[in-house]
Amino acid sequence: MRNKIIAGNWKMYTTVEEGVALVKALDAGLAGNDLANKTVIVIPPALHIVSVLAEAKKAGKVHLGAQNCHYEKEGAFTGEISPRMLKDVGVEYVVLGHSERRQYFKEDNGLLAVKTGAVLAENLIPIYCCGETLEQRESGKYKEVVQQQIEEGLFGLSAENISKVIVAYEPVWAIGTGKTASPEQAQEMHHFIRSLFATKYGQDIAANLHILYGGSVKPNNAKELFSQPDIDGGLVGGAALKAEDFLGIINA
Ligand code: PGA
Repeated sequence: MRNKIIAGNWKMYTTVEEGVALVKALDAGLAGNDLANKTVIVIPPALHIVSVLAEAKKAGKVHLGAQNCHYEKEGAFTGEISPRMLKDVGVEYVVLGHSERRQYFKEDNGLLAVKTGAVLAENLIPIYCCGETLEQRESGKYKEVVQQQIEEGLFGLSAENISKVIVAYEPVWAIGTGKTASPEQAQEMHHFIRSLFATKYGQDIAANLHILYGGSVKPNNAKELFSQPDIDGGLVGGAALKAEDFLGIINA
């Protein structure tokens, strides 16, 4: 049985003080919760990770992720942060290939394959994002797009490494737009993604793979989405910035 994973991507929002307060509020809200079958992850801006993690450690309910990283361990790469540095401060997860990084920072599948390998080499868990634009959906080519993102970004990995990866399906047209994929649309894609893994790596690895849905997940639509057979939780943006909303999604 796959547990549920609820990850909150804070993007370029919050001050350190606001981030720490947010984790404090999440811990308070989760106080009575049994998290045995759920993993809660917060993904703050890199600058906030040390302070937010110190707060998260007090209650031990919330795990920490980063939004991006470089692929080298160290070097003359001004402005970048390495997987080793993230590991050093206690990060466990790294989001790779978010559509905003693909769109605004021109990250492509080849680069993401290298980053994924570097993250795994530090024993961090990649949350690899894929998803089609509205134009790609409307042209009917959305499955091909996602298949290419998965094949080029992930399918160079060994069976051992692939079984550590989390996939996030995030249709670009649903991110930050308030327009959610219907549970049927999301389930269709999650099932398709799982079938790609089954074909390449076999049924066992596919059955254990976590596939998160992202794109305007809110407390009022989370339950329907998360109850689909191939949806193993969510990667949440806007609604992760308010403790009440994020708790509503965690409890869905
Ligand atoms: P959203 O963002 O929940 O605000 O749509 C999701 C994401 O970008 O991961």
